[in-house]
Amino acid sequence: MPVTRRQFLGLTAAAGLTLVTGCTGREPAAGPRTAGGLRLTAAPMRLDLAGHAVPTWGYGTVPGPEIRLRAGEVLRVQLRNELSEDTTVHWHGLAPPNAMDGVPGVTQDPVAPGAGFAYEFETPIPGSFMYHAHVGVQLDRGLYGPLIVEPRHEELSYDREYTLMLDDWRDGMDAHAGHEPAGADPDPADAVSFGGRAYPLLLVNGRPPEDPPVLEARPGDRVRLRVMNIAADTGFRVAVAGHRLTVTHTDGMPVEPVTVDALRLGMGERYDVLLEAAPSGGVWQIGVQPEGRPGWGRAVLRCTGSDASPAPAVAERPAELDGRLVAYEEVVAREPLSLPAGAPDRTYDFVLSGTQIGGQSFPDADPLPVAEGEWVRVRMRNTSSKWHPMHLHGHHFQVLTPTGLGPVKDTVAVPARGGEVTFDFLATNPGRWLFHCHNHHHMEDGMVRLVEYR
Ligand code: C2O
Ligand code: CU
Repeated sequence: MPVTRRQFLGLTAAAGLTLVTGCTGREPAAGPRTAGGLRLTAAPMRLDLAGHAVPTWGYGTVPGPEIRLRAGEVLRVQLRNELSEDTTVHWHGLAPPNAMDGVPGVTQDPVAPGAGFAYEFETPIPGSFMYHAHVGVQLDRGLYGPLIVEPRHEELSYDREYTLMLDDWRDGMDAHAGHEPAGADPDPADAVSFGGRAYPLLLVNGRPPEDPPVLEARPGDRVRLRVMNIAADTGFRVAVAGHRLTVTHTDGMPVEPVTVDALRLGMGERYDVLLEAAPSGGVWQIGVQPEGRPGWGRAVLRCTGSDASPAPAVAERPAELDGRLVAYEEVVAREPLSLPAGAPDRTYDFVLSGTQIGGQSFPDADPLPVAEGEWVRVRMRNTSSKWHPMHLHGHHFQVLTPTGLGPVKDTVAVPARGGEVTFDFLATNPGRWLFHCHNHHHMEDGMVRLVEYR
């Protein structure tokens, strides 16, 4: 049974750091906790995909347990590695001290099989974040989960909230009849294209389309969705049949509300939206369509009411997917970065070509020096045929649009074949920070640079 937001916050306040199992659940579970914190164990597991149990790696469930805390609280997580390889955990979108950032060989030693690591840092900034393994493409196997930092005082009013984590899936799928690899990347001309790897299945909160997560609401409820793309190689369009979406946050940071029909999320991006559940009731498809590749993921919004509508068919496609898409140019930060007057102290101009940033591939790439206190501008032009969602660790950045200040984010997708994005950030978090493409195959191919405080 979902609980209301007010009840839930009451529970959260009482329990401090609360662990909630599953992404749509509202009930704090008696999850694994260590004194004053929680335990995350990375281990082999089986994921049930509509009756087919596939072997994979995860933090007990896929997605891993929801971590939820209040702004200003201290995140304490004891990682235990029961995998056969080294691992680490990265807190995607948070800006912890460098030593807590979870990048093996850069901010910490990798955590060996059988070993552990204690992550502990304050989380002053509210928002919708994620955590995931940062070794190789381990994330692709299910080593990820949602991390939500609630504000001290919630300004939005809503009746319930759900998190939707979108993933592309292939682990353990080879022998899975009925979910054969979908074939070659169609490489369409609409500026989104991927690595050509086969992902036979698209999951929402670890569930295939045949067994979708069901979001319960009452007719007329204001529902908050935290939509997160944790896929390795897939961008998604998301729309809810019969409903419009009011975007309230990009990558966890508040924006002036914009109402759209559909979202488009590169890997690593998050959008928070509000919708008003149909007053007539009904059962509605939440369509999750991969960009530039075949397949389909979904969830279902069930507004209980007088009208007992049947559940939508698996592949029923919301017409809203073809409607107005959210665009960076139309989103304005509610709390823009306070950049000083004048010009940036330092500008980096990069061409993204193939899987190189500025003609270089990690680890044989020059670090990007910055000095503490500097205002740094990064301009990117993507000449490759692939879409690149670029992510900066340890900082939030201000996206600049032709008309001025856009959203504040930590991951921004640069369209293929000539797409350009510029962002500014303030160098206020000393250390060595990754700047990379969140296509994990591109990252593995070296699409990484290191921002280094000097
Ligand atoms: Cu979510 Cu370096 O990544
Ligand atoms: Cu890329």
